[in-house]
Amino acid sequence: MSLRDKKLMAVLAGTALAATALAACSSERTETPAAGGETGGEAGGLIGIAMPTRSLERWNNDGENLEALLQDMGYETSLQYADNKVDQQITQLQNMINQDPEVLVVASIDGTALGPVLDSARAKDITVIAYDRLINGTESVDYYATFDNYQVGQLQGKFIEEELGLADGAGPFNLEPFAGSPDDNNAKFFFSGAWDVLLPYVEGGQLVVPSGKAPASNDEWTNIGIQGWESAKAQSEMENRLNSFYADKKVDVVLSPNDSLALGIEQALDAAGYAPGDEFPIVTGQDADLANVKNMLAGMQSMTVWKDTRTLGEQVATMVDQIVQGEEVEVNDTETYDNEVKVVPAYLLPPQVVTPDTVESSLVESGFYDAAELGL
Ligand code: BGC
Repeated sequence: MSLRDKKLMAVLAGTALAATALAACSSERTETPAAGGETGGEAGGLIGIAMPTRSLERWNNDGENLEALLQDMGYETSLQYADNKVDQQITQLQNMINQDPEVLVVASIDGTALGPVLDSARAKDITVIAYDRLINGTESVDYYATFDNYQVGQLQGKFIEEELGLADGAGPFNLEPFAGSPDDNNAKFFFSGAWDVLLPYVEGGQLVVPSGKAPASNDEWTNIGIQGWESAKAQSEMENRLNSFYADKKVDVVLSPNDSLALGIEQALDAAGYAPGDEFPIVTGQDADLANVKNMLAGMQSMTVWKDTRTLGEQVATMVDQIVQGEEVEVNDTETYDNEVKVVPAYLLPPQVVTPDTVESSLVESGFYDAAELGL
């Protein structure tokens, strides 16, 4: 029996019990039993879900998916998007806390800004799960569920290493590296994962960075971070680099940490006259956003790191249910994610590489996309 079926059975069994109780004491006013509590309860109750923005495809998928899973399990949900504005997210969280949810699931915008509001959740015994992005500098976060963020960067770095034959001594190649939003805790993991592979080749001269924007160490990644993960900002940064440093040379490879940046970078490359196909630079990405998958098929992006948000949703729904039922919460990493106040117990899922050749076998066959929407 699938996990979801088991959850449904549990909900149905709970409903049957409630019906029996109602029949037995029909003169009494019956209350829906409160979920959660010290000794465990039944599925049900309110779960608050805070998402960063609707402007990026992945968060729309994440929110809808998690909401549907939890509702199927018998929970009520309050799903809020904060337009990438930190103050808006804090207000939304405060409003949710006022409604006494069982659990708050939070994909933060700025992982360092939520301590005070989450302290008020903690004061009411509301359990907090950091979703995808860690929440930093506070005791008031209980669990973290994500894809292995360092591994995402490793997959990007190793892809570049392999495509260019760097381990066999090939080069020099012109590289332009980018990093994610400086306020997103994930971005430093993505960059470190990739830079641990690529920096030795930069130092050894097989990779050359004509713009000079090559962090000398992983810690300097914020110097090339794109605030808010905005495509438009990545596009203008790439345009500037092309205009200033590439009058007499060609870009061979761009390290882009995700698809929203890759999209802007690809637009800049396209406008600068790079032809789709074999002549187009290697460009990495992450998320398997629809526009990027289409660009992969059109010869303008070499890979994306796919994080099947359905599996993250299932994991988080399981954790929510374990919390509400008073069961032990499943984690598989208790070392990596130190938020400066504590190491947050985490569940890490494996990301995977998708290339133009594997779009069909991974994204279409798994039902993540319909062949028709990709024009296949
Ligand atoms: C997520 C990425 C996403 C990025 C921009 C990161 O925290 O892990 O999947 O591309 O935010 O939304």
